Amino acid sequence: MKLLVIFATTEGHTRKIAHFVQNEAKAQGWEVDVKDVSEGAPLPNGYDAALIGASIHMGKYQAAIADYVIRNSQGLNNTLSGFLSVSLTAAGDDEEAWKEINEIADHFLKYCDWTPQRSLQVAGALKYVEYDWLKKIVMRHIAKKSGGSTDTKHDHEYTNWDELSMFVKDFLALKK
Ligand SMILES: Cc1cc2nc3c(=O)[nH]c(=O)nc-3n(C[C@H](O)[C@H](O)[C@H](O)COP(=O)(O)O)c2cc1C
Repeated sequence: MKLLVIFATTEGHTRKIAHFVQNEAKAQGWEVDVKDVSEGAPLPNGYDAALIGASIHMGKYQAAIADYVIRNSQGLNNTLSGFLSVSLTAAGDDEEAWKEINEIADHFLKYCDWTPQRSLQVAGALKYVEYDWLKKIVMRHIAKKSGGSTDTKHDHEYTNWDELSMFVKDFLALKK
């Protein structure tokens, strides 16, 4: 069985998530291709399943992932497909903020005319060490609101790898 994992990332954390998914699927006996959408992603045709990952910045996913999904919505709708939405909000339990990320994901899927069988809100990371001064200020403000760390001297990772592992297992099991 062949799985395609396509991801979009701005600071690199969704790449880490995509490679984690690759390892989990390989451990289940799947062959896996992982591609950054900005580096010429292949069509979903010819794969038994596809997972798409993207991260939220200022309320939006990367434009390149929307382009890819719109161009390939028919292929994605005709195969087993899943969506991983990565954000800082998913690390917290602010009801209003969760409502917002669920709406962002719903709007994205509707806009792209794509109906994945499974989707997951994945907690991302704060990469203060890599941010420039402006991003640092913006993210410290967002983190304060959403319960993330305001310690800008270190990076902070919030992804629940066990939950993601379970998601991948359940998702791939849909094919059997
Ligand atoms: C400039 C900037 C804006 C962000 N905006 C949001 C946001 O609107 N909502 C949210 O939940 N997370 C937001 N985040 C958090 C990112 O989604 C999180 O850091 C994620 O791990 C980034 O993934 P990536 O490294 O794959 O791009 C933002 C992060 C940055 C740096």
